[in-house]
Amino acid sequence: MNDKSAVTAGSHVSYWTDSLEQPISFSPLTQNDGAQVVIVGGGIAGLSVAYCLSQLNIKVVVVEDGYIGSGETGRTTAHLVNALDDRYYNIEKIFGKNEAKLIAESHTKAIDFIEQTVKKENIDCEFTRLNGYLFLHPTDEDNSLQKELEACLRVGLDVEMQEHTPGLLNKNTQALVFKNQGQFHPLKYLKGLCDAIIRKGGKIFTETHVEKINNTGIITDKGFKISAEYIVVATNSPVNNKYAMHLKQFAYRTYAIGMLVKKNTIPQALWWDTGDFNANENIPPYHYIRTQPYNELMDLLICGGEDHATGLANADIIPEENRYGLLEDWFNKHFAKGEVVFRWSGQVMEPMDSLAFIGHNPWDSDNIYIVTGDSGNGMTHSTIAGMLIADLITGKENPWEKIYNPSRLKIIKVGNVFFKEFAGGFSAYIKDKPKHADEVKLSEIKINEGKIIELEGKKYGAYADEKNKLHLVAAECTHLGCIVKWNNDEKSWDCPCHGSRFMHTGEVINGPANKNLFYFDENNPQRKFNK
Ligand SMILES: Cc1cc2nc3c(=O)[nH]c(=O)nc-3n(C[C@H](O)[C@H](O)[C@H](O)COP(=O)(O)OP(=O)(O)OC[C@H]3O[C@@H](n4cnc5c(N)ncnc54)[C@H](O)[C@@H]3O)c2cc1C
Ligand code: FES
Repeated sequence: MNDKSAVTAGSHVSYWTDSLEQPISFSPLTQNDGAQVVIVGGGIAGLSVAYCLSQLNIKVVVVEDGYIGSGETGRTTAHLVNALDDRYYNIEKIFGKNEAKLIAESHTKAIDFIEQTVKKENIDCEFTRLNGYLFLHPTDEDNSLQKELEACLRVGLDVEMQEHTPGLLNKNTQALVFKNQGQFHPLKYLKGLCDAIIRKGGKIFTETHVEKINNTGIITDKGFKISAEYIVVATNSPVNNKYAMHLKQFAYRTYAIGMLVKKNTIPQALWWDTGDFNANENIPPYHYIRTQPYNELMDLLICGGEDHATGLANADIIPEENRYGLLEDWFNKHFAKGEVVFRWSGQVMEPMDSLAFIGHNPWDSDNIYIVTGDSGNGMTHSTIAGMLIADLITGKENPWEKIYNPSRLKIIKVGNVFFKEFAGGFSAYIKDKPKHADEVKLSEIKINEGKIIELEGKKYGAYADEKNKLHLVAAECTHLGCIVKWNNDEKSWDCPCHGSRFMHTGEVINGPANKNLFYFDENNPQRKFNK
């Protein structure tokens, strides 16, 4: 690939994107079309839904505005787990004991489904079964592993406590071992799903932005229509839902580094700590680690974490680009020292009650479905979405329907999380707002710097690129009008309110916004900035 950053949601390139020769692309849509089901979004959620439906001989069309996997799926770390990051002892409290069993079962079945699909479709994506080790973060309660062990046994998972953890420098670390977890190369898996969908007569269009979605189908920004009986919106953060879902989930940035270590010096496994409760007691950011074969001499250790609410990194005084250094320090301390050869970040949607939202879009026509609220378990949540939405569309009963229903509201059980995350984010946004708009003038923007400037009461986002070319956008997010913030790490404008993101030239890269920021272009008289 010539410019790999052009195919992904930010300026950094993940190992997965880098290791592919070509982006996974298809032709853009250039005429009207029709299908039984149209699916918006070519990440793991959209393709899992499309794959499951196409296996039932239902005609599907997938429409993706970048390339396949160019959203968060190309930026993941692809642990395939039934070890949920919000802990089963919490899930039992929120959903009940029987429901917690069904939830555990759904994630176990999702890993099995991926394994069977890999075999059935002959997908060469390095799928591997392995153990996962959960160990205590020093800020967590001492008995948290024991509580989780008991809850995991109640929900029927294959777990045990061990006093030694392979891979960690301190081998005497106690860990809860989750057996039979999985990992794969996410983009190679998506390529395999695409091939299988096409073999069943499905169609996939890339570089095709969906502008309008209604109960008759979708319309692209070039004015082409795909008529369909059912519409599934799998855009990670639903672009067809303005309010309802965005009050029930919060957008977080999360960071990953890939470090080279000598081959086979670290065992193949997954590791997670239980999360930093000092950083955020409601949604404690945790570290997640896996290995990945790199070449004949070296393995890549991929380590993630250091999350923060999107657009609010400065609220904890650690700007986005400084998060990699923190990850490296943590990694050196617990695992190994090595050369960091990859750095990238991505976004996860944290649902207030821990589980994804999969099903009918609230307050919408009966034939419109969504998948969102991926949390740190988006690989399995998206696979569950494939199985569940196929059942919902074909009218087959599914025991997971009620649990994942996007209309559910657990306000009594988790209202505290909602209040703290929502109010905390809002107050950080307000505190930051006047400061960054008042202090800077257009002439003061330095190379490689982005700032919000204010002129005659209107706010603009100004970024001077490495050649000192100034890029100016209207700073009001096209979702609900919050003022965006510059993310100097991924060179994007990020919205602190619900996580929409835009390129420095204003193109939208993450929902819920679905429209670009207005870009002022000195070469285009209609878009010229007159100040
Ligand atoms: C660093 C990181 C590590 C992670 N690690 C793990 C892990 O180890 N295990 C795990 O289970 N999960 C993990 N996750 C979460 C997981 O990666 C995501 O939940 C998952 O990839 C989301 O898939 P998706 O299909 O919902 O979204 P995406 O992959 O973002 O796909 C949505 C697609 O919709 C497209 N789109 C948006 N708007 C439009 C439009 N208007 N028209 C057309 N197309 C549109 C986008 O271009 C995008 O490609 C991680 C996430 C990150 C960022
Ligand atoms: S994402 Fe909602 S206002 Fe920006």
